Amino acid sequence: MTRTSRRSFLKLAGSGAATAASLGVLGSARAQDNPAPAGRVNLPYPDSRIANLRELKENTPQAFHYPDSSSPCQLIKLGHAVPGGVGPDGDIVAYSSQCTHMGCPLEYDTASRNFKCGCHFSVFDSEKAGQMVTGQATENLPRILLRLTENGDIHAVSVEGLIYGRQSNLLGGAS
Ligand code: FES
Repeated sequence: MTRTSRRSFLKLAGSGAATAASLGVLGSARAQDNPAPAGRVNLPYPDSRIANLRELKENTPQAFHYPDSSSPCQLIKLGHAVPGGVGPDGDIVAYSSQCTHMGCPLEYDTASRNFKCGCHFSVFDSEKAGQMVTGQATENLPRILLRLTENGDIHAVSVEGLIYGRQSNLLGGAS
């Protein structure tokens, strides 16, 4: 490199650094103008009618989707009162039917009344609020909170626990 071209190079490098520094200042000023929201936006859960008491058969799961069409769930009338159960007998519960390990579909086992995963054999207890019993999963099964109307309609109104694969149960504009 000749003496002249080295001088030109140093001049260019210096002006580049000054430009980068000024852009940095501008960037941080813009960030201050538009600060990131401090808290998460809480979207309301939909209130969805999913069945009526008259349609339920004891220990026979009924499929539905909540809070949106990409989230499969199961509703079960267990036949005896359980924690979180609704209805006249306190025995109706509902859960997400996606395994909390890697999202495989769960099967309801009528004998044990557990949800079982065929992928890596996790087991969840439907009589104990979806508690994980054994297997690869580390999270309990998300529970669908229910509301009963005077005419026996059962509504899904919220979710307790995070549905597999989501950062938020509500994907925005869910219905
Ligand atoms: S996906 Fe269910 S145990 Fe792995």
